[in-house]
Amino acid sequence: MRRLGLGAMRLTGTRPFHDGAPRDPATALRVVRRALQLGVDHVDTAAFYFSSRVSANQVLATALSTAPEVTVATKVGPARDRDGRWTEPAGPDQLRGQVEENLRQLGRDRLDLVYLRVSDPGSLAERLGVLRDLVTEGLIGHLGVSGVSLEQLDEARSTAPVVAVQNRLAPDLPGDLDVLERCGELGIAFVPFFSVAGAGRHHGPVQADPVVAAVAGRHGVTDAQVRIAWTLALGPHVLAIPGTGDLRHLEQNVAAASVRLTDADLRDLATEQRVVAR
Ligand SMILES: NC(=O)c1ccc[n+]([C@@H]2O[C@H](COP(=O)([O-])OP(=O)(O)OC[C@H]3O[C@@H](n4cnc5c(N)ncnc54)[C@H](OP(=O)(O)O)[C@@H]3O)[C@@H](O)[C@H]2O)c1
Repeated sequence: MRRLGLGAMRLTGTRPFHDGAPRDPATALRVVRRALQLGVDHVDTAAFYFSSRVSANQVLATALSTAPEVTVATKVGPARDRDGRWTEPAGPDQLRGQVEENLRQLGRDRLDLVYLRVSDPGSLAERLGVLRDLVTEGLIGHLGVSGVSLEQLDEARSTAPVVAVQNRLAPDLPGDLDVLERCGELGIAFVPFFSVAGAGRHHGPVQADPVVAAVAGRHGVTDAQVRIAWTLALGPHVLAIPGTGDLRHLEQNVAAASVRLTDADLRDLATEQRVVAR
């Protein structure tokens, strides 16, 4: 798999789950098709990525119907009702239903990678036990966890084989660096989200940051491209999944994989985050 993939959340709207404009399904489809043309071979999605006009999973089902080799990662745990309101996260009894919903929407027999998105400090063992059984049944290929502390990662790994962690991290959005490092030691993937949006998070657009802007100026690239290059420089175990619903941004994001930041750039960016990039 290439290290630069596509985050599907922004296909649905400019400010998912907030007051942003929903995107139109035709544009969303064009973005995914162009991503595939440019060599993107993995996408990150969820059944709860939908707006009044676009369901990310349905767009992916259409775009990937002729590209079954593309790896799809999805998430279970959080839930929204038909009107888009957040409801109680899935407990162990609801997880199978969420997996089946993803399979149905994506039109696949098996989900390549399923993250358990955790939003509470409670034990993960029971929920991951359910998902581990679905791996055994062949409905899921691999398991990941998202939004976890180091302790939760250790607990998860004692319950089920975990191949990836998806946590938030950006130059201007501190994350748990111990988890980034532990993933490297374990040889499992670390997949940061909000790396481009940074401190702007759900609210987009990309947060202006003076250090990022200075590095971008030195390379003649955009701030978003610096943020993606920084993500990829965090380590060989790190994958980038920049989210966009905009064709021009998509092309810039794919091109960012070729931006090589210098040690001096990384030192400057590390002053923000205190990340020692490898
Ligand atoms: N596990 C979790 O809890 C969790 C949470 C959030 C997201 N995610 C996943 O992680 C992916 C990435 O996160 P994200 O999409 O929220 O944020 P992101 O990738 O950090 O940033 C997306 C924001 O940056 C803008 N953007 C993207 N490329 C740009 C460019 N080249 N120039 C200028 N602006 C650009 C997007 O606007 P445009 O759309 O207009 O380009 C959007 O506002 C998501 O798509 C989703 O798959 C996971």
